[in-house]
Formats: sequence, structure tokens, C-alpha cells
Amino acid sequence: MIFLSPPHMGKNEQKYIDEVFKSNYIAPVGEFINRFEDSIKNYTNSQNAVALINATSAIHLALRILGIEQGDKVAVSSFTFIGSVTPVLYQNAEPVFIDSDESWNMSPELLKEAIKENDIKAVIVTHLYGQMAKIEEIAKICKDNGIYLIEDSAESLGASYKNKQSGTFGDFGVYSFNGNKILTTSGGGMLVSENQEWIEKAKFLSTQAKENYPWYEHETYGYNYRMSNVLAAIGVAQMEVLDERVNKKREIFEWYNQFVDEKFMGEIENSKGNRWLTTLTFKNKNPLKVMEILRENKIESRPLWKPMHLQPLFKDNKSYLNGVSENLFKNGLCLPSGTQLKKEDVKMICEVINGI
Ligand SMILES: Cc1ncc(COP(=O)(O)O)c(C=O)c1O
Repeated sequence: MIFLSPPHMGKNEQKYIDEVFKSNYIAPVGEFINRFEDSIKNYTNSQNAVALINATSAIHLALRILGIEQGDKVAVSSFTFIGSVTPVLYQNAEPVFIDSDESWNMSPELLKEAIKENDIKAVIVTHLYGQMAKIEEIAKICKDNGIYLIEDSAESLGASYKNKQSGTFGDFGVYSFNGNKILTTSGGGMLVSENQEWIEKAKFLSTQAKENYPWYEHETYGYNYRMSNVLAAIGVAQMEVLDERVNKKREIFEWYNQFVDEKFMGEIENSKGNRWLTTLTFKNKNPLKVMEILRENKIESRPLWKPMHLQPLFKDNKSYLNGVSENLFKNGLCLPSGTQLKKEDVKMICEVINGI
């Protein structure tokens, strides 16, 4: 079976795990957590970072720290994975969905409209499939309106706009190291921010909000969200190959582009995506039919994310729509993009697609 985006371990993951076992720091504390946080800070040029169990918990901590609470409105990309949105529900706040534009990511125009009509406290923008949203415009809109900005860069570690890394434009940035991401720790996430106090607070809340006493003293409640040292060891080794992985993902995208004549997700001007998944929309093919035939050929593919405003869970939520994400969902597909793919594999996948 050719999978969509399977893990790809480098040379040192096992070696570092062995070091963790030798040290017996098999806990959410230890040298590798610090090293993993440092390597993310260095790579992305972020000032502060905290390693967590996943990206969903990172978004949750960001919202809690920004004071988002019951009844507050948070504008979120509609075309995204639900992990961007559930943290808003954890805070009993209200997601307001913003459709995409030709970038496939959040439309700044619709965001402006939503801000005019609602008291929006924060924005969560997703850089989908590793491709940058119109982040400069969105950051400016947030700044001009005194609204907090969280970048959901779960899929876009290594992507950049004007050479500035995804996740470093807003108040918080969030990365995922879930099993299918460009780098994986089997599961994991990272929260980054310019604001040191906020990241210190995130560390405190991610370890059950224990006050500084010899016994367990609690003035507020926290979570059990801190990353394990074992998983951080995998993360340190994976960071050593991040550039290689980005280059390979981009090469895979070029191969598909060469062999298939359909409309692929673009790249906004002045940006460089990580091409986490190669995604396209078909002119005349039914993506579910293509998916079925690929599966018969032992090739995994997946429909594009079903927009959040079309999910039964959010049927009563406010949305600012233009039909773009709905159209993408109806016509699009994600193609296998694992970094162990060879050009012959991609050619073979394309031959199957072209034969339909
Ligand atoms: C856009 C997006 N946001 C959030 C998440 C949640 O990340 P995690 O699985 O690390 O919680 C994911 C992927 O899993 C994602 O693709």
C-alpha cells in the first residue's frame, strides 16, 4: 500500500531514544525536551517555545492564556481540520467560520466583514496543506482591530512568507508532530510566541498548574499537556532532516504537476510552502471515484477537508461564505506525498489517475 504521508525516520531517532532510556528520564521532563524546543526556536526564529502532547492542546492553551472564555467569538478558517476549532469549544467560546479565497486559505476580505459585524476576540488562521495563508494581510487586519492572532501551523512547519517562518506572524504559532505530518514524534505539538510570560504560563498550565510549594498547591486548574522526553528525542532527530523533507515534498509536488494536467493548490506570491500534501481539484473527474480506483490499486488518497461550516456540529454557527471551500471539497483530492516516494511511484499513481 502507498500511504498518504507515512512517518519517515532519519538516522538518529533510535540513537536518541536509547540515550533517553539510558538516562531513565522517561517522563515529561528531561534534556531532549529542552533540545527539541531549542531546535524549533532556532529553525523558526521564535523567541519562546513549549513542547506539548499535540497541536490541539497547544491551541487550547493559547486561547486560555489570551483569556478567551464563554461566549467570546473566535474567527477561524472554515477550510481546516477540526483540531483547529475544538479548542474554541473547550473554552465554551463561539467559532465564526471564514471561507477561503483563491489561496484556498482564509479570505482576508471575508474576515474583515466578520470583524465589522461581530465582536471578534481572536482569529485562528490555518496554513492548509503546508501552504501559506495571506498572513501579512491577516496579521494587519488583526493588529488594526486589536484582535489576537493564532497561526495554526500544524501542517506548515518549514513554510515561509518573505523568508519569515509560518507560525511567527501572530501572537502564538502552533505546530503538530502527529503521525502523518512532515515531521513526526508519533504525536506531539509545539506552541511558540514572542511573549516569554505567555510561554512560561503555558508550561505551568500544561503541567497541572502546580504552584511553587513543596506540596501540591493549586490556585487555578491546568492540564496534563506536556510532551514526553522520549517523544522529544524523536523530535530532535526529525528536526535534523526538516530541510531535506521540505525539499523532497516540493519535488514530489513538481512530479505530480508534470504528469497530471489538473488544478493544483497554488502558492501565494513571496511564499514557500512545505507541500505537506500535494492536493488538486479535478476538472471532470469525481474525486470519490478516483479515490476508490486508487484504493483498488493499493494507493491511499483522501478528499480535501470538509469545511467546518458544512459539519453538522456547526450547523447553527455564524459563517462568512463565498462557496470556495465547498467547491474545493466537492472536487478535490489529497495525493500520496510521503517523502520516501520515488519518481516512478508518482508516475505510476498519475498513470492510474490519467486512465480514469
Ligand atoms: C490544520 C490542523 N490543525 C490542527 C491539527 C491538530 O494537530 P494534533 O493532531 O497534533 O492535535 C491538525 C492535525 O492533526 C491539523 O491538520
